[in-house]
Amino acid sequence: MAGIRLQPEEADLTQHQTRATTADLVSDDERSVAADSWSIKSDYGSTLDDDQRHADAAEALCSANFRAASDYNSDKDEADGEGGASMLGLQTYWDAAYADELANFREHGHAGEIWFGSDVMDTVVSWTKSLCIEISRGQIPNHIDDIKSEPGEQGDKYLSSWSVLDIGTGNGLLLQELAKQGFSDLTGVDYSEGAIDLARNLADRDGFSSINFLVDDVLETKIERKFQLVMDKGTLDAVGLHPDGPIKRIMYWDSVSKLVASGGILVITSCNNTKDELVQEVENFNHRNNPSQGLESQKDQVSGDPPVFRYLNHVQTYPTFMFGGSVGSRVATVAFLRS
Ligand SMILES: C[S@@+](CC[C@H](N)C(=O)[O-])C[C@H]1O[C@@H](n2cnc3c(N)ncnc32)[C@H](O)[C@@H]1O
Repeated sequence: MAGIRLQPEEADLTQHQTRATTADLVSDDERSVAADSWSIKSDYGSTLDDDQRHADAAEALCSANFRAASDYNSDKDEADGEGGASMLGLQTYWDAAYADELANFREHGHAGEIWFGSDVMDTVVSWTKSLCIEISRGQIPNHIDDIKSEPGEQGDKYLSSWSVLDIGTGNGLLLQELAKQGFSDLTGVDYSEGAIDLARNLADRDGFSSINFLVDDVLETKIERKFQLVMDKGTLDAVGLHPDGPIKRIMYWDSVSKLVASGGILVITSCNNTKDELVQEVENFNHRNNPSQGLESQKDQVSGDPPVFRYLNHVQTYPTFMFGGSVGSRVATVAFLRS
């Protein structure tokens, strides 16, 4: 998953091509990382400058955990310190990024970044839809009693019963795609006002004015409602890149566990953690909440309170690659069931 590094002359060219706006907030090292096969190709309109800027940011998000310590030479900011921290963990980065995206939207009508690309977004949406339909049909046991179905019924009609929250929604395009699939109770939150402004503008333009958008910091959420489906695409990755990433991640799980309704699901898409790492992080969270629960496997838990989150399923269709003798994929999407 390490980023491909450009030769110096190519890196110079890239830096000149990169717009002198949000890119200025990114360290020289991050700017010099080339877009690889996961560079973003927007279906929603973009310029070459946009594509390069987005690809650089996506690469910085996804490669932060995989760069050698010697890569961290930036003298620009405290975020480029030890432990994989990056500017992408700071709200100032996102505020500047979305100020740029808003300007682009107003000037050119561009929707901005699709994190991890449109193929991943499509996969996440169709996979999540199938999972929700299976749960609605009782094929996956949960505790949502108010959603009942008869065998042979069309699954899509159950989607309107699902309340959906997208945390760190950015431009809100994931919610638009979920709306196209039949979900209708949709809310997106982001701590960047610019993101919410952009998401609202795009939703209005594209005919999805019924989607709710709110400014909210998921780590100190003001939302009291619980949702049956909570989506996170790239937000835990960003949270983990804060200089206090490990603490922020603990805050994240505490907060998100209050946002998912009992019997509801959390679907996380990450480029910085494997499925196994996410499962382990959830087991650690469960253990913090109830130390009597074993860490090794949810199967081995002693009887008593169920774990807060339980691994449910993960996307198995992402392309894989071999690295150092093991097989991995560049992005993981994992669903957890809330007890
Ligand atoms: C990698 S982007 C992903 C955006 C969007 N989910 C997508 O897939 O296009 C990470 C997003 O998380 C948001 N974010 C990061 N930390 C947050 C926090 N503590 N509360 C709310 N939003 C946050 C950022 O503003 C940014 O929009």
